[in-house]
Amino acid sequence: MDFSIKTFDAKNTLDGAKTGCIAVGVYENRKLTQAAQALDSKGAISAALKSGDISGKPGSTLLLRALDGAAATRVLLVGLGNEDTVSDKNFTQAAQATARAFATLGAADGLIALPLAAIKERDVAWAIRCVTLALRENAYRCDSQKSKKEATPEGVKKIAFALGGSTAAVATGARQALAQSVALANGIDLTKDLGNLPANICTPTYLANTAKKLAKDYKFGIEVLDRKQLQALKMGSFLSVTNGSEEPPKFIVLKHMGGKAKDAPTVLVGKGITFDSGGISLKPGAGMDEMKYDMCGAASVLGTFRAIGEMNLKLNLIGVIPTCENMPSGRATKPGDIVTSMSGQTIEVLNTDAEGRLVLCDALSYVERFKPAAVVDIATLTGACITALGHHNSGLFTRHDAAHDALADALLAAGRASGDTAWRMPIEDSYQEQLKSNFADIANIGGPAAGSITAACFLERFTKQYTWAHLDIAGTAWKSGTAKGATGRPVALLTTFLLQRAAG
Ligand code: BES
Ligand code: MN
Ligand code: ZN
Repeated sequence: MDFSIKTFDAKNTLDGAKTGCIAVGVYENRKLTQAAQALDSKGAISAALKSGDISGKPGSTLLLRALDGAAATRVLLVGLGNEDTVSDKNFTQAAQATARAFATLGAADGLIALPLAAIKERDVAWAIRCVTLALRENAYRCDSQKSKKEATPEGVKKIAFALGGSTAAVATGARQALAQSVALANGIDLTKDLGNLPANICTPTYLANTAKKLAKDYKFGIEVLDRKQLQALKMGSFLSVTNGSEEPPKFIVLKHMGGKAKDAPTVLVGKGITFDSGGISLKPGAGMDEMKYDMCGAASVLGTFRAIGEMNLKLNLIGVIPTCENMPSGRATKPGDIVTSMSGQTIEVLNTDAEGRLVLCDALSYVERFKPAAVVDIATLTGACITALGHHNSGLFTRHDAAHDALADALLAAGRASGDTAWRMPIEDSYQEQLKSNFADIANIGGPAAGSITAACFLERFTKQYTWAHLDIAGTAWKSGTAKGATGRPVALLTTFLLQRAAG
């Protein structure tokens, strides 16, 4: 898909726009947006509304051909709901409906003339991102493993956003917002592709090679540590998870030093379990295939790097990915085994299926060396997080002090701004009690109660040296059932958060 911005003014008007399809908004009470009015000189749109062919409800659409009064081949009317307040929710529905309609049109090019500047509490940049992501989401296909590729999706390939009566500065801002939206969509696509690939293809080595390719394309620094180097670092906790697997573990470090040399970096740590069988604490068979998605934290770090690399973000960012499989075997870690983490803390592995925290804790110790301004880990960590928050919000955990509240608020705000939301959960000493072990410093599970919180509490013990947040994306990273597939979350949240940090 190819995107651009087109400006319109008193001389260069919308009704004269030669395009395969122009999308304009209409309201519920038969009122027209400005763009719709501009095409209504002959009353054809008003007549369509009067006829009742389109309700104007958010997401309703009506396609008109050869409209008297418009040079465009087609006009797509898109419902926006109530005229007084175009809410972000209604606009999003309109954007998604536009994307669906554009996807099946015979037109080669299209013009988005929705009211980008009329959305309550949102700006033009937000609206451009909303529409771009909706169009790209609709066009996403995952058929790399199908012997017969799905027929290349029809539909509009060249999309322009109509900007009316705006200054040069607004147009420049819109162009920048568009470039950022496309970069974000590219990052989301990479995250989806990696998540959707099966575990026999998307191995730790495959993730490392993907990171190397990104490093080459965007001039990131890269280091991939192998088992020997991890042993030298004394990552006994991470390595204990790899014991049952034939696939070699990898520890990926990506660096984008786009900020000032002296600025402390922001660090992203992504859980990269390319398949989580549970190990000796084997998972039940039903739905186990979905544990190929247990590397979605890692995939979101790589997708975010793809996005910020394309944006050439002025920020120092480091991505760290501990990646391996969690498999049973005669050599696998057994329940009751005690391992020593890089931090020196000993861990009693009461359940080998609580492996995410075991790989993350060593990565969280490793990143101390970067003296980070903030560390955010991203992990498909607990089924309990799905029980708590469902599939709507990622779980956000931090300590509760001023610095951490500020980090949490920034992440929550980035989630709201990008429609990729998170919800904050507590970390408190009372939950830490549940991780007591009779034989080691700490147990790797805290019992059935508050499972996502005790998992976060486990990680917290390895993050005392810096400001840290944990995102549990178990409920948001992929969809099950007939719509099975990676969502690309939380790349939009992370990228928006980083853009905000780069802006100071
Ligand atoms: N990767 C899983 C968490 C998960 C499960 C994510 C289902 C999405 C869907 C994680 O490694 C795990 O197995 N967690 C256990 C922890 C338990 C043993 C304390 C869980 O959630 O059951
Ligand atoms: Mn597990
Ligand atoms: Zn797991």
